[in-house]
Amino acid sequence: MLYDIAIIGGGPAGYTAAELAGRRGLSVVLFEKNALGGVCLNEGCIPTKTLLYSAKTYQSAKDAAKYGISCNEVAFDFAKMMARKNKVVRKLVAGIRSKMTAANVEVVIGEATCDTTAAMPQISCNGNDYQAKKLMLCIGSETAVPPIAGLDATDYWTSREALQANELPESLTIIGGGVIGIEFAAFFNTLGCRVTVVEMLDEILGGMDKELSALLRTELSKRGIVFHLSTKVTAVKDRQITIEKDGETQLIESSRILLSVGRRPIVKGLKVNEFMQTENPNVYACGDITGYSMLAHTAVREAEIAVGHILGASEKMSYRAIPAVVYTSPEIAGVGKTEETLQKEGIAYIVKQLPMSYSGRFVAENELANGVCKILESTDGKILGVHLLGNPASELVVIAAMAIEKEWSSEDLKSIVFPHPTVGEIIKETL
Ligand code: NAI
Repeated sequence: MLYDIAIIGGGPAGYTAAELAGRRGLSVVLFEKNALGGVCLNEGCIPTKTLLYSAKTYQSAKDAAKYGISCNEVAFDFAKMMARKNKVVRKLVAGIRSKMTAANVEVVIGEATCDTTAAMPQISCNGNDYQAKKLMLCIGSETAVPPIAGLDATDYWTSREALQANELPESLTIIGGGVIGIEFAAFFNTLGCRVTVVEMLDEILGGMDKELSALLRTELSKRGIVFHLSTKVTAVKDRQITIEKDGETQLIESSRILLSVGRRPIVKGLKVNEFMQTENPNVYACGDITGYSMLAHTAVREAEIAVGHILGASEKMSYRAIPAVVYTSPEIAGVGKTEETLQKEGIAYIVKQLPMSYSGRFVAENELANGVCKILESTDGKILGVHLLGNPASELVVIAAMAIEKEWSSEDLKSIVFPHPTVGEIIKETL
C-alpha cells in the first residue's frame, strides 16, 4: 500500500505528526521500535516529573509545620513511588495508542529502516516493505558519552537506569550539572541521598539565566547538594571519581554515578529548512534528531509545521520563544533571550526585576521562600526575555512565551487583566 505519510519514531514529534495528519484524512503509518511516547513519555519528561512530584509532596509534608499543620512520622516508600511512576507512564502510553486509533493511524511496532534519498521513500520493518509519498524522521536523540578514562568499564547510570532504580543509593555523583543532572540531584537529595554534582562550566544549567541558576544552586547547596563547578571528571574507577579543577585533582567516593553531559541526535548532520524538510523535499525531520533544542515541546511544534507544510500551508518554524523549564522545587523557567545571549549579540536591553515576594499569592503559599521575576526589555519596549525562579514558574512562563512569540511590547502585556491573587501577577507587576 502507498501511504500519504510514513513516520519513523513514536515520540512527541512522531505521534503529534501522526495524529494531526490522520485527523486531516491522510493515510499514515507510524513505526516505533520500543513504546509509543518515546523517551519523553517512557524514560524522560513524564517519569521524572512524576517522581519529582512525589519528592515535592514528601518535602511539603516535612515542611507542614510552617503552615500550622503537624504531620508526625513523615516517611516515603521508594518502591511505591517507582510503581506509581510506572503506572502513570502506562496510562499515558495507552492514551497515545487510543489517539492513534482514533486518528486512523496504522502503528507498526518494530525497527524500521529506510532509504532517505529515494524520491518515493521506501521503508522496511519486520520483513515488510512500505511506500509513502512523504517520510518523517522523528527518531530522537541518545545520551552523549564523553571520553572519560575508565567509564566503559564502570557500571554507571544514565537517566534511563536512574529511573529504573529499585533502591535509593546512599550517595550519588552526577557528572554534568545540566537539566537532567539538576532534576535528578533535587530528587535524590530530597529523599536523603548524598548528592554531588560535577559541572565543567562555571555555573549549572548553562543556557538558563545565569543569575537565577546561581540562586537555585545556592538553595540546593543549603539542602546539602555539593557542587563542584569549573571542574572536570577525568577518570572513573568502580565507585571512585577523579575530578580536576585548576590543575588539582581530588577523589570522590560514591555508591552510584549518573552521567548527564548532554544528549545528541541519533543521526548526525541532518539539516532541515524552516518547514522541517531535509535535502530530499519528500523527507522531513522533527524533534531531537534536528539537534536544535532537544525539548518535547519544540518537537511538537516542529511536527505541526511539517504536517502543515505537507498539507499545503507555508507557516515557518520559529524558535524565538521556546520555553525552558527545570522542574526542581523551586522551579526555574525562562523564555526568549538571556542577559548572556543579549550581551554576546551586542543587543542593548533594560532589566526589570522583582522578588517573587511582591506577589501576595506567592507569599501566602511559600513560607520563608523567595524567588525572582526578571524581564529583559529592548530599548523600544519589546519583551526580549523573561526568567522566573519560584513555583509555579513552569506554568507562568507560557504567559511570557506568548508575548515574545507575538512580539508584544511591555505595554501590550500590561493591558491584559491578570486574575488576583495569582503568582502570575508578578509578571505584570515587574513590567
Ligand atoms: P545539558 O546539555 O542540559 O547539560 C549537560 C551539562 O554537562 C552541561 O552543563 C555541560 O557543561 C556538562 N558537561 C559536559 N561534559 C562534562 C564533563 N566531562 N564533566 C562535567 N560536566 C560536563 O544535558 P542533559 O542535562 O544531559 O540533558 C540532555 C537534554 O535533555 C537537554 O538538552 C534537555 O533539553 C533535555 N531535558 C530537558 C528537561 C526539561 O526540559 N526539564 C529535563 C531533562 C532533559
